[in-house]
Amino acid sequence: MPQPTFAITPPPTLWLTGLSGAGKTSIALALEQQLRAEGRAVFVLDGDVLRQGLNRDLGFAPGDRRENIRRTAEVARLMNQAGVLVIAALISPYREDRSMAGEIIGAAQFIEVHVSTPVEVCEARDPKGLYARARTGELPQFTGVSAPYEAPLTPALSLDTGLLSLDEAVALLRRRLAR
Ligand code: ADX
Repeated sequence: MPQPTFAITPPPTLWLTGLSGAGKTSIALALEQQLRAEGRAVFVLDGDVLRQGLNRDLGFAPGDRRENIRRTAEVARLMNQAGVLVIAALISPYREDRSMAGEIIGAAQFIEVHVSTPVEVCEARDPKGLYARARTGELPQFTGVSAPYEAPLTPALSLDTGLLSLDEAVALLRRRLAR
């Protein structure tokens, strides 16, 4: 007997881009926790975590960041194909690299979210003390200080955690996902 065919749409990748300290990881983990509690297959791909393993050979020169994003996008694509909703949290400062990620993941799956917290707010928070080290020059090529950040021109969503609480940011993402 022929098997019925189903139009299976893979789950998306929410691609969170923004400065260090903008709140990408906090938002990603909070959303992951909520969705998992509801029984959804979901996984966070976090730049800091990936750089301890898969991407530990990479630094912060533009070519290395590009390779970081390419590998992460390839992993996200595979995970989406496996039925897993991905929340990627990487600075991903260059428009061209994020556009490459969108091509790898697929336009229908790729949802670009700008965590748009301004640099002054990120620097005041400085949770890892990196902005201070960047200002003295100890940490070169630091995004927002001595390396560029190219904000998305047409993100699906912008979340400024200087203005929004974590709960509000997560709720907005969930609303976007429900569309
Ligand atoms: S990306 O630019 O290649 O997308 P990614 O998100 O993977 O960056 O890693 C960013 C993290 O690396 C930051 O949160 C910070 O902890 C650390 N880091 C160390 N050096 C730098 C630097 N020069 N610029 C930005 N982040 C840095």
